[in-house]
Amino acid sequence: MQELIFDNNVASCLDRCIGVMAPQGVFVIADTNTNDLVVNRMRAESQRIAQAPAIVINSGDVNKNLESLSYVWEQLGALGASRHSLVVNVGGGMVTDLGGFAAATFKRGVPFINIPTTLLGAVDAAVGGKTGINFNGLKNEIGAFAPACAVIISTTFFPTLPEAELLSGYAEMLKHGLLAGRKECDELMRYNIADNDQSHLLKLLEESVRIKVDIVEKDPHERGLRKALNLGHTVGHAFEALALSREQPVLHGYAVAWGLVIELILSHLQLGFSSAELQRLASYVLQNYGAFHITCHDYPELLRLMRHDKKNLNPDTVNFTLLRKVGDPVLNSTATDDDIKTALDLYRDLFHI
Ligand code: GLY
Repeated sequence: MQELIFDNNVASCLDRCIGVMAPQGVFVIADTNTNDLVVNRMRAESQRIAQAPAIVINSGDVNKNLESLSYVWEQLGALGASRHSLVVNVGGGMVTDLGGFAAATFKRGVPFINIPTTLLGAVDAAVGGKTGINFNGLKNEIGAFAPACAVIISTTFFPTLPEAELLSGYAEMLKHGLLAGRKECDELMRYNIADNDQSHLLKLLEESVRIKVDIVEKDPHERGLRKALNLGHTVGHAFEALALSREQPVLHGYAVAWGLVIELILSHLQLGFSSAELQRLASYVLQNYGAFHITCHDYPELLRLMRHDKKNLNPDTVNFTLLRKVGDPVLNSTATDDDIKTALDLYRDLFHI
């Protein structure tokens, strides 16, 4: 069970956690960005990490690899970390994924605390125990389910993030809202990211993380219910990969936002999901995320990418999490190529492409 702390006084929460855990040595893992922008600032405010060594890896998902992992293991060894030490991961999903995996595997497991510094990290990667690295050209290919002892979630680091990064994280919050119910969705669609209201955002973030945690606690190893969290991701990952192949990468959450629209179109076609709800989400996404440009010439490649999604068990069909209605996910749904092409056509109509 991981302790979740929602508080903008990150340093004092961290000091309190470290005081309770009384570890033999604290080691901070950060990337080059978060070391400069966050860790140095936290050192001034936290007595417990003021002197703690930082292991700094290069930023960016391309560095979530074996080389960075090996460097962290080496440094933990050289600095004398033991199973009774504590690792504190400070960063976005890249740092909490890699740092969590490094900690979970070093000497068969060192406890760790996550301090997410991005909205996407706070609402998704830092919580729920998935850790790992990319390997052999595949994302998150090597990893372990290893929950942090505690996750300290705040909005305090967000003002330095570009608005697009916030919107990227917000898409995962929309996904959680769609899985939870109308009330949660309404609240999310009423909030305007551009307002930059930190205390309102922290409240929405707390509600959103709790939706995820409720699901993860029932199915930590993704044997069933946790697959609900893949809503929007079958199409989202395909869009992300297509954008990368065009050398015009898109942020993960943007791809998820478009993926949510297309998967709700499929939900409408297959399960009678309300067209009014679908229209509402589509206009919200179009207004905030714009459109991802595709033509029918992209369909074969998109279908190929969806079939090869690592969560797809049978390469002849494409697996989705769909919604019967807001708050009512249907796991292990499948769709034929024709259904998917129809959904892509309808997306292009809705987004005037
Ligand atoms: N990112 C979805 C999950 O943690 O299962």
